[in-house]
Amino acid sequence: MVPLESVRVLADDAGHAPDYVHHRGLVDWIDEFAKRAQPNKIHWCDGSKAEYDSLCQQLVEAGTFLPLNPAKRPNSFLARSDPSDVARVEDRTFICSTHRADAGPTNNWMAPAEMKELLEEVFEGCMQGRTLYVVPFSMGPLGSPISHVGIQLTDSAYVAVSMRIMTRMGKAVFDVLGEDGDFVRCVHSVGMPLAPGEKDVAWPCNKEHKYIVHFPEDQAIWSFGSGYGGNALLGKKCFALRIASAMGREQGWLAEHMLILGVESPTGEKSYVAAAFPSACGKTNFAMLIPPGALHGWKVTTIGDDIAWIKPGADGRLYAINPEYGFFGVAPGTSQQSNPNAMATLSENCIFTNVALTDDGDIWWEGMSEPPQRLTDWQGQPWTPDCGRNAAHPNARFTAPASQCPSIDADWEQTSGVPISAFVFGGRRSTTVPLVSESFNWVDGVYMAATMGSETTAAAAHKVGNVRRDPFAMLPFCGYHIGDYFDHWLQTGRNVKHPPRIFAVNWFRQDDNGKFLWPGFGENMRILKWIVDRCHGRASAAESPLGWMPHYSDIDWRGLDGFDFGRFEKLMSVERDLWIQELLLHEELFVKLYDKLPKEFVLKRELLLATLWRSPLRWTPPA
Ligand code: GTP
Ligand code: SPV
Ligand code: MN
Repeated sequence: MVPLESVRVLADDAGHAPDYVHHRGLVDWIDEFAKRAQPNKIHWCDGSKAEYDSLCQQLVEAGTFLPLNPAKRPNSFLARSDPSDVARVEDRTFICSTHRADAGPTNNWMAPAEMKELLEEVFEGCMQGRTLYVVPFSMGPLGSPISHVGIQLTDSAYVAVSMRIMTRMGKAVFDVLGEDGDFVRCVHSVGMPLAPGEKDVAWPCNKEHKYIVHFPEDQAIWSFGSGYGGNALLGKKCFALRIASAMGREQGWLAEHMLILGVESPTGEKSYVAAAFPSACGKTNFAMLIPPGALHGWKVTTIGDDIAWIKPGADGRLYAINPEYGFFGVAPGTSQQSNPNAMATLSENCIFTNVALTDDGDIWWEGMSEPPQRLTDWQGQPWTPDCGRNAAHPNARFTAPASQCPSIDADWEQTSGVPISAFVFGGRRSTTVPLVSESFNWVDGVYMAATMGSETTAAAAHKVGNVRRDPFAMLPFCGYHIGDYFDHWLQTGRNVKHPPRIFAVNWFRQDDNGKFLWPGFGENMRILKWIVDRCHGRASAAESPLGWMPHYSDIDWRGLDGFDFGRFEKLMSVERDLWIQELLLHEELFVKLYDKLPKEFVLKRELLLATLWRSPLRWTPPA
């Protein structure tokens, strides 16, 4: 054990925390942590460009970063992770509330005292031979009343530079904190100490032990063993979703896995929409949508692509902010065709992780363009189009400043947030779920969001292609009992005078040959237009067993040739037998949280079943 004094001497050359830090509790916390983790050195991040550049240079020298061709991709880097450390680890993620019942059936739980004892042991000496970076950050604009501050202690320079893109990071955070401000305590280690003289690897991590642990009652996060994404950039899923959702429940607001976008009509009317889709199901694409040219005058702007913090405003509406400062987006599938705004955002100042490298020092991934004749794959191996392997990992990601996005909304940093007119919920469903429907009322919409299912993707480590229930796209991110969460949503709708309307969408329905029935991407504007028109009382709809649905004539088809009523019908049909199967899956979710299941849900399910039973075998909206 290193005596406290000697750790203090390591804090900086002068032997103390920087002179702009006046928070006693914070310094004591870091001292105590450093005593346990035993880093070689402590580096207090100031957030400057010079510091960012020097850390990137250091990562290049360590072999973690490969600088990309500055003529093609200025100031950008490629990182290749360890092949075992490529996604969030849901089975190693814990919510440690005092009572197990407060974590609920969808979270892993351990008693806080027991978990702390275990973690203290795991973290003992875990930073030996490494530098401890103190990363001060704000989720939301600095100093805004809706923002919250965190300090992340990490032994990963990759994490420190990523946090500068993804959050407002730097020493100004200490001005907000003053002498005794509240902050979320985030500690992170890759879990691979270095013995004296031992050579580091390009992507240190711990292959045996991983822990992503949340103590919602202490507002503390402990993460061990992984350097990747949501496991390691603790401001994102750990803080802005799991801890913040628990804070929001106490304080009367919502922390959601939602993109936020603005829609401008040809008359200049502006509306805002927040949409929840599970990981890798199209939030980034939807947030940056470019409407088809034929829909003259409609425009979409981007506020956020992953997380929304939503609070009731004095005028009885719900207001949303994006607490993040950058995009950590799925790379594969992103192209000039699917998402030109994302491609433009990636033109410089980015970090790419687990993508492929071209011969001229640029990046490539599946779906970007015709595959080049030769590449270096995400693991650094030679790759050719016929080799049978992916060039980029399916969960390869870009880390990019949001300010570089051409469609970024003028008000994206507005501290009061933007007023939300509609909530949209969607999943990846090849069958059963229609292209779009609007819930009859708030309770109905909450039920629909709560029972949403999605076919699983590579963003988390589980079998790809199975349908799993993913309530509100929050299954891996809700920091408390999911039944209490449903109740909080029901209550929020009752508390505000003008609750947003709630819609369900499914871009992923397929025909019998496994082809997508809906073109998606920019064409989603046609559905978004109907949604916004509904919010303003301009569009008509038919009453289906599931909710309000557009007639064929309610959708603006200008410029989309060959999309006839027959095709529309295939996308919109409600098949009675499939939906009765679906209701059995709802029941499967409900029995797991029976003690906290809102009564409304039981009744709503009965009503749905009765309605389906009296509907045609195959219901379709009229022309
Ligand atoms: P996280 O960052 O993991 O939370 O996910 P995200 O929801 O932001 O994921 P993203 O937008 O990157 O989703 C990418 C995947 O969705 C790719 O496989 C895309 O091809 C697919 N996708 C996005 N929009 C559409 C669409 O309109 N239609 C279809 N068929 N696929 C889409
Ligand atoms: C997700 O999985 O929903 C993500 C990526 O947004 S990560 O930050 O790694 O969780
Ligand atoms: Mn996400």
